[in-house]
Amino acid sequence: TRIDKAGYKHFMAKEIAEQPTVLAGALASYVKDGTIHLPGEGVDFSKMQRLTLVACGTAFYACLTAKYWFEQLARLPVEVDIASEFRYRTPPIPAGTTALFVSQSGETADTLAALRYCAGKADRILSVVNVAESSIARDSDLALPIYAGVEVGVASTKAFTCQLNVLLLLALKAAVDRGEMTRDRQVELLTALNALPGIFNVALDRDAVIRKAARRIAEARDVLFLGRGLMYPLALEGALKLKEISYIHAEAYASGELKHGPIALIDKTVPVVVMAPRDSLFDKTVSNMHEVMARGGKVLLISDAAGAAEAGADVWQTIVLPEVPEVLSPLLYALPAQLLAYHTAIAKGTDVDQPRNLAKSVTVE
Ligand code: G6P
Repeated sequence: TRIDKAGYKHFMAKEIAEQPTVLAGALASYVKDGTIHLPGEGVDFSKMQRLTLVACGTAFYACLTAKYWFEQLARLPVEVDIASEFRYRTPPIPAGTTALFVSQSGETADTLAALRYCAGKADRILSVVNVAESSIARDSDLALPIYAGVEVGVASTKAFTCQLNVLLLLALKAAVDRGEMTRDRQVELLTALNALPGIFNVALDRDAVIRKAARRIAEARDVLFLGRGLMYPLALEGALKLKEISYIHAEAYASGELKHGPIALIDKTVPVVVMAPRDSLFDKTVSNMHEVMARGGKVLLISDAAGAAEAGADVWQTIVLPEVPEVLSPLLYALPAQLLAYHTAIAKGTDVDQPRNLAKSVTVE
């Protein structure tokens, strides 16, 4: 079937807008009657000693998010690495290790090489892929599809949220398998996850506010993204999206690292995007925001109503999202990060779907 833009100006805009439908479909494939169903022989996390997650680019940030989930929800030790580093570092793979590779295309050369390095060393090789008939899927013991559908835009959007979805489902299964979460709590979170496509629509409705913020971001030369905990990988992904398609220099830091370097960059010309739902770490993030504002920095806060109220009036701009359980926040906060990058790129007039120098799939080193 021919893939077209379905009336959108860009594939990226279409793929962002598709996320409620795509996520609902992906969930329907994995969750039936409040139970997580994995393909094939599934995954038993009860005896697993550690999990090694390896990927590149956006898929790597999905892995970094998953580390927080697996460790916090399932008390499963996780190592995460960029495929190009992992493969040449030739790390020891202790017995009891399961290796999991995340790739939209399933053809990224470094990720495939890292997978092949683990063959015969890891207990089991899993993959989370969008393209089911890919090399990475073929070479793994079990491939878990993300069901994002064809993604054309070079900057990954719906594949990211669908990767997060599968990784979260695995973490929720791991939590119950390992006796760290009750079945009731799992059902509660699955119910909340099932409501997320609807909440995605609310986030997408923030388009006009985000577009307005993006026009100002487009004037900047440098942008800093901050986040803590689950929002740290999201800050990295937000910065990656922005630099990929708008060519604005963007970097992300864990909020707690602000004082260890990036604060030296802050002045009124550097917008600081703070991704912070009002979660257990919110107070700490607010104090980082105040440090930025005290130095003239302009804070663009992405939060919920409670967070926006607590942050105070001096925030430069605020994007308010619905409240969701803390563990689900990475999926939701991905959307404003994508829209911010998209509208900034549009304001700058860059080629959103085919950014310079980038390829959708990096199949050679
Ligand atoms: C390229 C793409 C990114 C993608 C990365 C990893 O850099 O432009 O969007 O995240 O490759 O690709 P994969 O197909 O392995 O997820």
